[in-house]
Amino acid sequence: MTAVHVVVLAAGKSTRMKSARPKVLHDLSGRMLIEHVLHSAAALEPETMTLVVGHAADDVRAALAGWPSLQFVVQAPQLGTGHALLQAESVLKDKKGVVLLLYGDVPLLSTSTLQRLLETHRGKKAAATILTTEMPDPYGYGRIVRDAKGNISRIVEERDASAQEHKIREINSGIYAFNLSGLFDALHNLANDNAQGEYYLTDLVAAFYQAKKKVESLLLDSPDELRGINSRVELAEMTAIVRARKNRALMIGGVTLEDPSSAYIDEDVTVGADTTIGPNVRLQGKTSVGERCRIEAGSRLAHVTVGNGVTILDHCVITEAVIGDEAKIGPFAHVRPASVVGPSAHVGNFVELKKTTLGKGSKANHLAYLGDAKIGDGVNVGAGTITCNYDGVNKHVTTIEDGAFIGSDTQLIAPVTIGRGAYVGTGTTVREDVPAGALAVSAGKQRNIEGWVADKQRRRRDKKE
Ligand code: UD1
Ligand code: CA
Repeated sequence: MTAVHVVVLAAGKSTRMKSARPKVLHDLSGRMLIEHVLHSAAALEPETMTLVVGHAADDVRAALAGWPSLQFVVQAPQLGTGHALLQAESVLKDKKGVVLLLYGDVPLLSTSTLQRLLETHRGKKAAATILTTEMPDPYGYGRIVRDAKGNISRIVEERDASAQEHKIREINSGIYAFNLSGLFDALHNLANDNAQGEYYLTDLVAAFYQAKKKVESLLLDSPDELRGINSRVELAEMTAIVRARKNRALMIGGVTLEDPSSAYIDEDVTVGADTTIGPNVRLQGKTSVGERCRIEAGSRLAHVTVGNGVTILDHCVITEAVIGDEAKIGPFAHVRPASVVGPSAHVGNFVELKKTTLGKGSKANHLAYLGDAKIGDGVNVGAGTITCNYDGVNKHVTTIEDGAFIGSDTQLIAPVTIGRGAYVGTGTTVREDVPAGALAVSAGKQRNIEGWVADKQRRRRDKKE
């Protein structure tokens, strides 16, 4: 098997996005646009992957720090697609094999289509193989021009095409396989005598034809995978396609989506069988949900690991957290980053967790703020409990050991520890550690003033008269 070298072009400036952010870094179903391309290409296990950057090169490079095997070459200024590929010469000059040329803004291209392109290229022993398709309205694309024998003789760009050539419906997708041998010599020989004064990669085709090198094509039945993104309208259209495809795959895998049209599930999310997802649920980023879970309407989970048999009731927001098996969350709970909800634990309505561990079977069922807390197993946290974790300068830890009972309306002034099995009376302000097995109370003895209300009403009446 010959080696594959992937080159992705992403140097061009995109004006139609009207964005300060480079186009290829915009989000499409939880991945950056460019990452869709990189994922499809990486599955081919190429020997090298090179990204040609130019416009906002530093931003692109920084955003892709998570792709250590990716090499970057800078194209400045941007003098056309032929000139862009030429920039990869430094990476590829001593290599052998096939170059697969991709665009950073064509995100739907699948690994299997790329594989077919490579197979066609190898099978036909071509010097170049072009991925093409037929479009009812080919306006704007380069057209595939064939000779009397049906061989591809050149590609003509929209602006350079004759009236006759404008009628050709077979278009150049801009995706190709090239033999590395002789490729850079041919690129060095490109001229820029065309309507845009650019070095057109497409001119290689005419050069190869004249040199009697074989140029082949793979014609796709549908143009769907070849669609590029140039504007936010196209980004939204493409997102809808990716989302529908993801939902379908999940349903086929045994997940019930009560309303697929309002299930917003990112590309990298996994969901186990027999899990049911209600309407208007968003599962984002690297979220994984186990089997037999229920996620009710209006909840949003971002980068969350959810175990099996978990119930998440309506309108919860959960980010960068871990939820154990059989836990129950919500409705209206807010679980913030670095929180761990243990197996069978309960987090009820209007409870907020931040950087907090809630142990196995522990319950915080109503109205609480638990921040920077380490809460053991079998703990009961009463309604209105607040960890006072911030002293205005630093954050401090609250520790609640196994089996402790925290009465309602308690303030825990951190750093503080509630020992194993201890009780904290309702309305207590806990400033000092509570030993294991102790009861802590801080409120004074209750005093009742008999007849106070009637006295007050009488005094008010007397004043008015
Ligand atoms: C190109 C093809 C055209 C094809 C179309 C498919 C050429 C000359 N034309 O046209 O035949 O039908 O794609 O979409 O190749 N880029 C760079 N550096 C540059 C110029 C472009 O990196 O100097 C990158 C862009 O970021 C983009 C890609 O190359 O990802 C395509 O560039 P674009 O200007 O959109 O090419 P088209 O004119 O659409
Ligand atoms: Ca384009």
